[in-house]
Amino acid sequence: MKAKNTKAWAGRFATAADPRMEAFTSSLAVDRRLAQYDIQGSVAHCRMLVKQKILTRAEGEKILKGLKNVQRELARGRFPFLASDEDIHMAVEAGLIETIGPVGGKLHTARSRNDQVATALRLYLREAVDEIVRGIEALQFSLAKKAKAHMGTVMPGYTHLQRAQPVSLAHHLMAHWEALERDRARFGDCRGRINVLPLGAAALAGTSLPIDRKFVARELGFRSVASNSIDAVADRDFVVEFLSCAALAMTHLSRIAEELILWCSAEFGFARLPDALCTGSSLMPHKKNPDAPELVRAKTGRIFGDLVAMLTVLKALPLSYNRDLQEDKEPAFDAAETLNACLAVTVLCIEGLEVDEVRMAEAAGADFPAAVELVDRLVESGVPMREAHGIVGRLVRSCLEAGLGMADLSSEELARHHPALAGVRPEELTAEASLAAKRSAGSAAPSEVARQVRRALRRAKR
Ligand code: ARG
Repeated sequence: MKAKNTKAWAGRFATAADPRMEAFTSSLAVDRRLAQYDIQGSVAHCRMLVKQKILTRAEGEKILKGLKNVQRELARGRFPFLASDEDIHMAVEAGLIETIGPVGGKLHTARSRNDQVATALRLYLREAVDEIVRGIEALQFSLAKKAKAHMGTVMPGYTHLQRAQPVSLAHHLMAHWEALERDRARFGDCRGRINVLPLGAAALAGTSLPIDRKFVARELGFRSVASNSIDAVADRDFVVEFLSCAALAMTHLSRIAEELILWCSAEFGFARLPDALCTGSSLMPHKKNPDAPELVRAKTGRIFGDLVAMLTVLKALPLSYNRDLQEDKEPAFDAAETLNACLAVTVLCIEGLEVDEVRMAEAAGADFPAAVELVDRLVESGVPMREAHGIVGRLVRSCLEAGLGMADLSSEELARHHPALAGVRPEELTAEASLAAKRSAGSAAPSEVARQVRRALRRAKR
């Protein structure tokens, strides 16, 4: 379809471009993904040019039809890209002119690639955010469902990766839910700042033609119009924000992934992932490896790299547009695609997770699960907290020396440590009793956890 190889700027140039330079500077391999967003932007721009009588109705119709044609060819994978097409924007325009003739050259009126590319990237990221938020919600839903099934499953809660105080598996899973809830909100905030129209800034200074930017913003669903034309083409803060939201969300996924890996080890033995979500070893026939969470854990580093790459491109970059900004796309696309893939596989892992409730309960019941409740008991009888801590600490030490658990102690032995402990019954010293004793808002108390799970499930049903 396209035969000629003439650049948009050929008029100013005495010689053709060096093909090696063309290959180096081309972004086509990466920014092809922007095709539909570029066309979306062009359609709105063209309608505005007609409305403002900068183009005639007939010209506008020709251009819109031509753009549809190009879109169809792109969708069918039949669009003939040329090495000389520096980027997707030039390729689409060249295709348009090839299809409808010189009138296609009027589309770029009152526009520069600088405001065009910023517009297309914002349209892409706005959709990416919506997809990611759906992915986050799906993962939150799977966590809440798993939590609902494990309200009564007791497990050790950890600090320093040492058994600390018993919690329920539901409580633990809902802690991850909360982190994802903040991610959801952060992506929402970020979307608001993505959703601003740069188009109409032209190269950097605006235009002398009577354009209507508000009209274009409405056509494209942008909430507002960028107020400063220099900033409009120079700004990639929205990419940094997107990447930092993605980096933090990936951090949260890596924490979930790490726990799944630990829990599935023989050392913990808390859970298994179904065979369908694991791989074996090419050498060791007995192996079953948690590759999916391992890769989620590892891919987190890629997203950090994307964020640092983007920050570094922007650092000390003079205003306004510089070709450096072309390097914004790979990190943005990579982060969006990686995060979506990791969210989806983490949903599979949570849904498929087979919990060994007995093993978890055993671990929760060992190592003085109700030590803190004993301290609280003494505190309630008037002993200062610091003294109570010392008394129970000594009691723990004597148990360790005698190789006994707290529940093995007789009421006389308990009373020897403090009279107020005389009435404590063995069943008050279990992990379950520790949970049931909790009262504070947001605590491991079954009623509190049930409230969190109900809220989460109610939200998911909306
Ligand atoms: N491919 C370029 C980018 O991604 C498009 C803008 C190029 N503008 C220019 N004046 N060379 O940033």
